[in-house]
Amino acid sequence: MKRIVVSGIRPTGNLHLGNYFGALRNFIRMQDEYNCYFFIADYHSLTTHPHPDHLRQNVKQILASYIACGMDPEKVAIYAQSDLPETVELYLFLNMNAYLGELERCTSFKDKARQNPDNINAGLLTYPTLMAADILIHKADYVPVGKDQEQHLEMTRTFAHRFNSIYGMDYFGQPQAFNFGSNLVKIPGLDGSGKMGKSESGNNAIFLTDDDAVIRKKIMRATTDSGPVEMNQQKPEVIANLFQLVKVLCSEETYKSFDEAYNNCTIRYGDLKKQLAEDTIKFVAPFRERIQEILADDAYLEKVRRVGAEKAHESASKTVREVRNIIGF
Ligand code: TYM
Repeated sequence: MKRIVVSGIRPTGNLHLGNYFGALRNFIRMQDEYNCYFFIADYHSLTTHPHPDHLRQNVKQILASYIACGMDPEKVAIYAQSDLPETVELYLFLNMNAYLGELERCTSFKDKARQNPDNINAGLLTYPTLMAADILIHKADYVPVGKDQEQHLEMTRTFAHRFNSIYGMDYFGQPQAFNFGSNLVKIPGLDGSGKMGKSESGNNAIFLTDDDAVIRKKIMRATTDSGPVEMNQQKPEVIANLFQLVKVLCSEETYKSFDEAYNNCTIRYGDLKKQLAEDTIKFVAPFRERIQEILADDAYLEKVRRVGAEKAHESASKTVREVRNIIGF
């Protein structure tokens, strides 16, 4: 039996390199070996009340990006979370066994509540139970995600284990966060601190849809410091972050030569940024072009989504039927 893999990305805009290296790259690499369900987390995006037109457009954008990055609809079930209302029923059941204290202690809840004190809604609080429902609805073994989702996976295991204990059976497994070959990934942003993500200005992230000029401009503006003053000194966070981007986007020789230049204090950040910009453009351009092509084909996108939803529905309806029976309905 093939192991089961589930993951998703919220349709809050275009995909950035953090999404790609943290999650999507793994999705593509897993599709041959595993039984994969990859969705667009449109229910989750409702915590910020998007306009219906934006929601529709963003879902389509992520769907096209999945395919443009190499996801094969013949191998993988690709669907929108909202195509699978079974998830909502499991979410309700899991919410009955999720405690206020543990939900309030969740880091992503605390961060979002701090950033948007006027919109601390119940959907935000129960974000981890909906995510657990997405995963447990297919009884997943592995969940490819970036580092920032690690705690949500821990909570998923807690909810699964609690359900099993309450009903005295070994129904749900313990899904694991997954990254090929190593620890979960965190791609830093261009502002030198924290992770790459959507910001107000959009300047902290490189999107798979950014054109060459935009990529150059964003990278040339990335935060640096005034340069090393001692041989072999440790890199401060802003510089270590920039080097991490070089590591994922440039060749090993390029990384080594800038690392040496840093260590002997001859580095010119302008040169590093120019090289990083050119390598990033080389990486992004084919994806951007392919996304545009696929976006133009509405009939194809709809078909992919419909076929994916049917496959996901088969597995989800079985789980919900069994869970209802276990609960006593
Ligand atoms: P979201 O939409 O915030 O991010 C999607 C995926 O991209 C990863 N990611 C990153 N990885 C590395 N470095 C970064 N800078 C970076 N930024 C984003 C995230 O870790 C994630 O894997 N809750 C999820 C969506 C979701 C989901 C699920 C995922 C809903 N249900 C069930 C897995 C299983 C989220 O908000 O991802």
